[in-house]
Amino acid sequence: MPLRVRRKLLFLLLALLAVLVAAGAAAAANGGFTPQAPHSPNAARINSAYYLILGFTGFIFVVVESLLILFVWKYRSRGRGRDVEGAQVHGHTRLELIWTAGPVVILAVIAAFVFYKLPGIADVPAASANDRVNVTVEGHQFYWLYRYPNGAVSIDDLHVPVGRVTYLTIRSADVDHSYWIPNLGGKTDAIPGRTNHSWFKPDAPGVYGGQCAEFCGIFHEAMQARVVAQSDADYRTYVSKTAPATLGKQEFDGVCATCHGMKGQGGYGPAIADNPILTQKSSLARTIRNGVDTPRPGQMPPVGNTWTKTQIDALAAYVSKHVYGGATSGG
Ligand code: CUA
Repeated sequence: MPLRVRRKLLFLLLALLAVLVAAGAAAAANGGFTPQAPHSPNAARINSAYYLILGFTGFIFVVVESLLILFVWKYRSRGRGRDVEGAQVHGHTRLELIWTAGPVVILAVIAAFVFYKLPGIADVPAASANDRVNVTVEGHQFYWLYRYPNGAVSIDDLHVPVGRVTYLTIRSADVDHSYWIPNLGGKTDAIPGRTNHSWFKPDAPGVYGGQCAEFCGIFHEAMQARVVAQSDADYRTYVSKTAPATLGKQEFDGVCATCHGMKGQGGYGPAIADNPILTQKSSLARTIRNGVDTPRPGQMPPVGNTWTKTQIDALAAYVSKHVYGGATSGG
């Protein structure tokens, strides 16, 4: 082999080695290649299925790529003329039987495992029917709205008790969204005109992050969700006191500010801090519920098309006090 080629080959091998080492480090720190640690029984079962499939596919990848490299090396031309054909090899019955039966067995194992795990992923634990917390999740452009059993409402952050089942009824108020908290289970689409369900049972207190998983418009990325799993007592305090007390601020920060800026100073949408609508509750309600169609249709989406009077009142009180006239007190 000429020296020049040998050098190139050596360089290629070193580069490959560097990539492999980097990949190892990335994998050790997760690097986004593996699922997040499960904190709900259904999420744990989804992860088990993932790792089983990763095991098979990883093994097959290594076998196929190793054989490829081996064959490229072993059957290289060795200076043979380009127009001379190499040795002709015909069938190998046992090998062909193996590579036919092998995949069948592998697929059967994966299918059996997934069907074994599926009930524990899809079905809500039966014993929890009386004890579970039923929450409605609404996907909106561009925020998540939660309705709790006592009528309380929160935006983007969902508070739930640890160790109990939260049963989710998932809807959309406008376009397709998808609710996904990776630590707590699989994603579930929020589709207009359809009701989907999901559940989780957090095993430890914590804040579990998530993100709308369906491209739903210009601020799709802003549709981040968090599940705050806390003690039963803290959960009860949240839904009875904290959520109602902070509703107006949650609504402005989570719904209006996405387009109009945190102080109403404008952003993607116009500045609204000096707009007198902020002090006129009926105009505000109409704008929030119907959206704005001038100068062009859909100028502002009807972000509050499902809002109750309580929700409108909370927003009106908050914006007239903390946003109107550039006021930034409180916050
Ligand atoms: Cu909602 Cu993406």
